Amino acid sequence: MLSTIQTVLLCAGSFITSSLVCPPNPTVLQDDGVIIILPPRSNDTGLKKVPDAAHPYMPPGPTDQRGPCPALNTLANHGYLPRSGIVTIQNIMDATREGFNMDHDLSAFLAGFALLARGNAKYNLLSIGGVDKRVPSLPAQVDGDCPPGGIAKHGRFEGDVSMTRQDAALGDDRNFQDSLFDQFLTFIGQYGDNSTVTGPHSLVNLRVMQEFKYQRFIDDQKRNPALSFHASRVASSYNEAAFILKFFANGTDETLSVPSLGSIFRNQTFTPNWWRRASPGNLSLITSTASMINSVNTLFYIPPGENKGGKYMPDPPFYGCDPAYYDFVTNNLPYTYAMIANGTDIFAQNVRTLLKAIATPFKCPEVPPNGPKDPSNNCGSSLTNRI
Ligand code: HEM
Repeated sequence: MLSTIQTVLLCAGSFITSSLVCPPNPTVLQDDGVIIILPPRSNDTGLKKVPDAAHPYMPPGPTDQRGPCPALNTLANHGYLPRSGIVTIQNIMDATREGFNMDHDLSAFLAGFALLARGNAKYNLLSIGGVDKRVPSLPAQVDGDCPPGGIAKHGRFEGDVSMTRQDAALGDDRNFQDSLFDQFLTFIGQYGDNSTVTGPHSLVNLRVMQEFKYQRFIDDQKRNPALSFHASRVASSYNEAAFILKFFANGTDETLSVPSLGSIFRNQTFTPNWWRRASPGNLSLITSTASMINSVNTLFYIPPGENKGGKYMPDPPFYGCDPAYYDFVTNNLPYTYAMIANGTDIFAQNVRTLLKAIATPFKCPEVPPNGPKDPSNNCGSSLTNRI
C-alpha cells in the first residue's frame, strides 16, 4: 500500500494521472486516514443576519444527501455545509456556529458522536442523509459488515418520538411528514403566544413544546410496539425540542413564529429577515430547557424506558455521572472503538479526539464504548432516497 505522503507526492508530480493511483480527491482516500483537529473556539459569536449574500438557498441536487435534521439540511441548502451533504466534523462545527450560534463544545459532541456512530472517523466523513459511497466503510469491519449508515440510519442517533419524522417501525423516519407537522401547528394554535405581526396563537412557546412532545410520546407508545426511549434518546429527543425554542427563534426578539418554523422544517431554508441567536447556545442552556419541557414536576414527564408487550417499562434509576452520556457511549458506540483507541495511528488518534469531544460538555469522566457492532441484517434501513 502507498503511504499518504507517497500518494500525494506521486499525484502532485505526475502529469498523467491514473485514477487507480491518484484519487479525484486525495484527502478522502489517503491510506492512513485524515487527522481530525477540532476548530478553535471562535470569537465570532454575536447576533448576525443569516443567511448572508454568500449563502443563497439552492435546492439539493439528485446526489446531495439530506436527512432527519432540519438544521443540517438547511445549512447544506445554503452552502454553510457542503451542498453534497457529505461533511467533516469541522464543516459541522463551523456551519452550526455560523448559522445558529451553536456553542463549540455542544456541536463537537453532536458531530463527534454522529461521526463515530454513523460515519467514518478514519477519514472524517459523514453523510447527513443515508448511506453514500463517498463515505467509505471502516477498516477491518470495526462496525460490522454494513457501510456507515449516515445520520438517517435508525438507531444510535436517529430514534423514536421525533417531532416531524415517524418512528422507523411506523413509517418514514428520514423525511419531513406533513401529518406530524400539522399536529405541531394545532398545538401552536391552541397554546401559542400572540404576535402583533403574525397573529393570535402564532408563536411557539414552552407550553406548546410540552403539549406536543407529550402527545408525540403517547401516540408512539400506543402505536409502536418496539418503542425504544432510553436515556440518550430521551436526551436527544427533548434536546431537539429545546433546539427549536433556543436556536430556531429569531435572535432579534427571541420569538419563533409559525412562518419561520415552517420555513425551516418544511422548506429547509431560513426565513426572511432572520438573525441567529445573540450568544452561543451551549449544552447546559439546552438541557435546562429540555428539562422544563420534560419536567419531573408535571404530568408531561416521561422517564427513559421502552415498550415491552405493549406496556411502557421505565428503566431502573441511574446513579452515575450523567445517564444520557453513559447511554450514548456505552450502549450506542461499538466496543471495538475502545480497542482502536489504544492504537497509535491516525484512526486511533481520531477516535480518542472524538470520545473526548463527546464527554467534554457533560463534564463526566470518559467511559469506554461498549455497545454492539452494527448487525449485518441492518444494512439497508437508511437507503431510502431523499424525496
Ligand atoms: C451539530 C450537529 C448535529 C447533528 C449531528 C444533528 C443530528 C440530528 C439527528 C440525527 C436528528 C434526528 C433525530 C431524530 O430521530 O429525531 C436530528 C434532529 C433534529 N435536529 Fe439536529 N443535528 C445537529 C445540529 C442541530 C442544530 C444546530 C439544530 C438546531 C439549530 C438541530 C435541530 C434539530 C431538530 C429540531 C431535530 C428534530 C427533528 C424532528 O424531531 O422532527 N440539529 N439532528
